[in-house]
Amino acid sequence: MPSVAGQMRSEIRGVLFHESTIMSRLDEMAAEISADYGGKEITVVTVLNGSLMFSADLLRRLEMPLRLDCLSVSSYHGASTTGVVTFNQLHLPDVHGRHVLLLDDILDSGHTLHAIRDKLLEETNPLSVKVCVLLRKDVPRQRELEADYIGFDIANEFVVGYGLDYMERFRNLPYIGVISEEAIVKYAPKLA
Ligand code: IMP
Ligand code: MG
Repeated sequence: MPSVAGQMRSEIRGVLFHESTIMSRLDEMAAEISADYGGKEITVVTVLNGSLMFSADLLRRLEMPLRLDCLSVSSYHGASTTGVVTFNQLHLPDVHGRHVLLLDDILDSGHTLHAIRDKLLEETNPLSVKVCVLLRKDVPRQRELEADYIGFDIANEFVVGYGLDYMERFRNLPYIGVISEEAIVKYAPKLA
């Protein structure tokens, strides 16, 4: 009987970044971020659930003192953005007077990070806000947003693994891969 990981692999069209490649890139990103802040304390605001693995691995490489807050938002349904960003908690983290580093798994249309950054700036008066993403997709941004730190640039394909999901599946793959057309159809949201 094939293992669960084996079954999942058959639904992945190709591996884009192996675990070791991701770890090496995180070493570089963390060195750059640590150097830029020069020992200043930061508050990392991480966007769950997709950034869970990325945050855990990046934070352990950062050298400055830091606080951690998590935000949960949703805008995706299946493999396309709805453009409407819903905040799943009542309160924003209190980052008044703090240097914020906003972490997300992937910059796609830009809606998610744009909405979070705007809300933090409007409602909590941080000292600064920088944006750090593991992946940046090559698509026309529907919302103007430049990330300050980018792990990898990718083509316009739907990717899963290392925290990223399709219909809540595949987050536990240790690598980042492109999902197959068959799997997209197989797990597609059911029409009501
Ligand atoms: P944006 O708001 O369109 O920039 O999309 C950002 C969010 O959509 C990310 O935080 C992901 O949760 C999700 N997303 C966008 N593209 C992908 C993908 O290729 N795979 C998995 N999730 C994605
Ligand atoms: Mg996400």
